[in-house]
Amino acid sequence: MRTIATILFFIFLLSFRMIKVLTRNTDCHSAIKVGHRGAAGYCPENTFASFNKALSLGVDYLETDIQMTKDGKLVVIHDTTVNRTTNGKGKVRDFTLNELQNLDAGSWFHPQFANEKILSFYEFLDEFAGKIGLLIELKKPSLYPGIEEKVANELLKRGLTSGSAEIIVQSFDQNSLRQFHTILPAIPLGVLVKKTTMKGLSHSELLTFSSYATYVNPKMTMVTKPLIRRIHQHGFKTLIWTVKKKQDVHLLKHYRVEGMISDFPDIL
Ligand code: G3P
Ligand code: CA
Repeated sequence: MRTIATILFFIFLLSFRMIKVLTRNTDCHSAIKVGHRGAAGYCPENTFASFNKALSLGVDYLETDIQMTKDGKLVVIHDTTVNRTTNGKGKVRDFTLNELQNLDAGSWFHPQFANEKILSFYEFLDEFAGKIGLLIELKKPSLYPGIEEKVANELLKRGLTSGSAEIIVQSFDQNSLRQFHTILPAIPLGVLVKKTTMKGLSHSELLTFSSYATYVNPKMTMVTKPLIRRIHQHGFKTLIWTVKKKQDVHLLKHYRVEGMISDFPDIL
């Protein structure tokens, strides 16, 4: 009886120690904190209010989405229409920049944000480039021929093409990323993936990405330990989106991911 009690006591001690070691390893791993569309859980996404909130929560990078207007200007907006996030209706590409900036981009979230407007990419860069890392998503670039060149020119004009500028460009559109890479190979690129199984992310697919991408960025719902291992084994870094739960933060740190993207960056 006494022997059993002693064995149980040692098993308890051992598991306690293992939990401590696991937690310590996990806590030591520092992953980049990225504010999704700013801090979209707290403020209307992709607005100054949202980006400034993310800064106040201590993010390392701001994530944002870029599209193009009827008059060829780059704008910061996620959806291809203005319907969900403004008081207007219609496709982004059917508005001029001036028309878009006359819309209210904050009240849909809360009346206190009634003065928020859609930002141009130029305003976004003027305010945040050099201050904080930027994770720039080319959103539906096939709708906007020439968008890669325009984004690249803006970065070049502002001298944001060295590694120290901390700019990453990402997209779901692999053709667009390939094109961007030929224009501006100095900028690290990320492939966004949201497949339902890791089976879809094959060895040959990962090999194709490696000719232009530095990051492979899967949706949180498809993350497994083997998937992250596979991404790392192919030499990629990874930023996971979007992280909603504290327990996922611990898990991802344990998997040694390079970064996490969240609407609520304070949980990171
Ligand atoms: O940063 C990744 C994430 O933003 C991709 O999905 O739809 O939020 O742009 P979405
Ligand atoms: Ca995005």
